[in-house]
Amino acid sequence: MQKILVSGGAGFIGSHTVLELLSAGYKVIVFDNLSNSNRESLERVQKLSGRTIEFHKIDLLDKESLGKLFRDQRFDAVIHFAGLKAVGESVEKPLLYYQNNVAGTLNLCECMIEAGLKQLVFSSSATVYGDPESSPIPEENPLKAVNPYGATKLIIENILRDLYQSDPEWKIALLRYFNPVGAHESGEIGEDPNGIPNNLMPFVTQVAVGQREKLRVFGNDYPTKDGTGVRDYIHVKDLAKGHLKALEKISGEKGLHVYNLGTGSGSSVIEVINAFEKATGLKIPYEITERRPGDAATCFADVSKAKRELGWSTEKDLYDMCRDAWNWQQKNPDGYPH
Ligand code: NAD
Ligand code: UD1
Repeated sequence: MQKILVSGGAGFIGSHTVLELLSAGYKVIVFDNLSNSNRESLERVQKLSGRTIEFHKIDLLDKESLGKLFRDQRFDAVIHFAGLKAVGESVEKPLLYYQNNVAGTLNLCECMIEAGLKQLVFSSSATVYGDPESSPIPEENPLKAVNPYGATKLIIENILRDLYQSDPEWKIALLRYFNPVGAHESGEIGEDPNGIPNNLMPFVTQVAVGQREKLRVFGNDYPTKDGTGVRDYIHVKDLAKGHLKALEKISGEKGLHVYNLGTGSGSSVIEVINAFEKATGLKIPYEITERRPGDAATCFADVSKAKRELGWSTEKDLYDMCRDAWNWQQKNPDGYPH
């Protein structure tokens, strides 16, 4: 049985991926400092899967404890989700983001080298495409950071590329996620944002549950089908499955492999509202406001490489994403119990 170490496995995408790994028969060891998550997510994953997860509360920046974890046991691969991800916060606290995400990843890679482990799947983001000139966006598109969070992803991608150049024994997958939303269909695990959500889908579900009065639609004068921003929303379960395909790929092939993980099609904010209303039978009150600074008009993935090389593509549509996000929100109006 392959042993996979998952950093940040208590978080939104991590917990869904851990569930898929367990269901596929992998042994899973998670470490997380729980700075943006809750131990309860993994308790629920254990219940859903009927399997146990070994958990270590470790911070990426605590190299001593991380090193010990790698000395105490042998892993077959690492999936690295741990990181801070709030764009606005990264603008206010850039050093925190560089320290946590970049220095933390350096620690992880050093521990891997000491342990002789060279298989890594890394959570990158479509944010590395900056403000893309056109969509669909292929992996070879020019890359650009437009905020400190995006810069950390770009820097880490470059570090991993250099690492592979220095030692071609490495097997690395850089996965560029588009807009992960939704939740497991059980409603037991999902996204549990701190404070006021920045992202569209958690904001919509909080309006639907009555925690917020109305949605603000950031601009309707973009050059898009209805003037509102267009994104590639991907169900978190489809995204989680993409990690298993990436693991399979790198276990058989050395190299540095880059994949977009998205659906390949874009939906506008108005389309998301309509899909949500259709999936739930609820009305989402909204008003059109100013554009949010830094937002691109349109951003969706060219997913042909992931399809061709990983044999992966998404199965769930916007309706499923809205239904499952709402199911999670309804069952857990305040997120995980704290
Ligand atoms: P999340 O915040 O739910 O999960 C990240 C996890 O990492 C959390 O459990 C947090 O406690 C942990 N963590 C953070 N810093 C740590 C540290 N120093 N040591 C140990 N653990 C630490 O976020 P998510 O949405 O699940 O995102 C997972 C990864 O995917 C992140 O790297 C994120 O940047 C990336 N990503 C997310 C999105 C998205 O929209 N959710 C999009 C693109 C990329
Ligand atoms: C945001 C981040 C990006 C990150 C991505 C996935 C910013 C500037 N960008 O991108 O770095 O990789 O999330 O986590 O924060 N919208 C509204 N009202 C809202 C919220 C959003 O109209 O209350 C609109 C936005 O203008 C956009 C769309 O909904 O057109 C999606 O927004 P969001 O969920 O924040 O994702 P991104 O903008 O793609």
